[in-house]
Amino acid sequence: MRSLIDILELTTQEIDELIDKANDIIANPAKYSEKCRGKKLATLFFEPSTRTRLSFEAAMYELGGNVLGFSEAQSSSSAKGESVADTIRTVSCYADIIAMRHPKEGAPLVATMKSRVPIINAGDGGHNHPTQTLTDLLTIKRKKGRLNNFTIGFCGDLKFGRTVHSLIGALSRYENIKIILISPDELRVPEYIKEEVLDKKNIEYREVSSLDEVMPELDILYMTRVQKERFFNEADYLRLKDSYILTPEKLFSAKADLSILHPLPRVNEISVAVDDDPRACYFDQVLNGKYVRMALIMKLLGVR
Ligand code: NCD
Repeated sequence: MRSLIDILELTTQEIDELIDKANDIIANPAKYSEKCRGKKLATLFFEPSTRTRLSFEAAMYELGGNVLGFSEAQSSSSAKGESVADTIRTVSCYADIIAMRHPKEGAPLVATMKSRVPIINAGDGGHNHPTQTLTDLLTIKRKKGRLNNFTIGFCGDLKFGRTVHSLIGALSRYENIKIILISPDELRVPEYIKEEVLDKKNIEYREVSSLDEVMPELDILYMTRVQKERFFNEADYLRLKDSYILTPEKLFSAKADLSILHPLPRVNEISVAVDDDPRACYFDQVLNGKYVRMALIMKLLGVR
């Protein structure tokens, strides 16, 4: 039985297969409409979510399966003091696979030790978010036709942004990826990612604080929200929240074939005036997320 807690648990070949499968689902959706008939997905969301939870649920429905679960900790027995371990033991009696989001880093990993069914990490605190990474990779592949040979700028909250951490890990496996980390000093990528991923894999990267300065170099710009819920004090959040705001004017110096990604939700960091720019891909990501989750659910359930 296999879970997905960290994107690096998948080999590059497996990631490429999931992307190919998602592309096949997009091309032939009817072929997949009965693949999970009789199977149940539980979505256990101890933290807010729109896209991740609903795309998991839509994915299971489109595979012919069913869904149960909760969308806030307050409506589960966790509000009575139940441990994650006991919740998981319980839910794994009722479901065939579990997608779980939790504010504590490592909670989905702990869940795998108590579960009788596969666990998918749908975001654990400021740590990882592997299924967003699959979404991002599918989007990049569909836009650029490749997952190698490009320069990507990650901009915003690189400290708490779990989607950034997972995507850096995945991209470190592909050829000739250059990474530019654009953030205020306080929101830089954690040291462990620099040491264990970027340095170990010899990835060419640099850290800057100005987006304008690097814009002309970028093939992909990955914008992120400042993660309000991870801050210890509000004053710091207020000071940092509008560090970067992408506007049409800022894109004057960008490449014509730039791809602008954002895992969403967006707050202020991308002006709505950018949405109509053909380089904006963040609503494509939303749709791609459903297809790649369909591919992942099938893989972890062993459905061919
Ligand atoms: C992200 C998350 O939850 O980490 N959202 C998502 O899953 N698409 C990004 C964020 O909340 O800023």
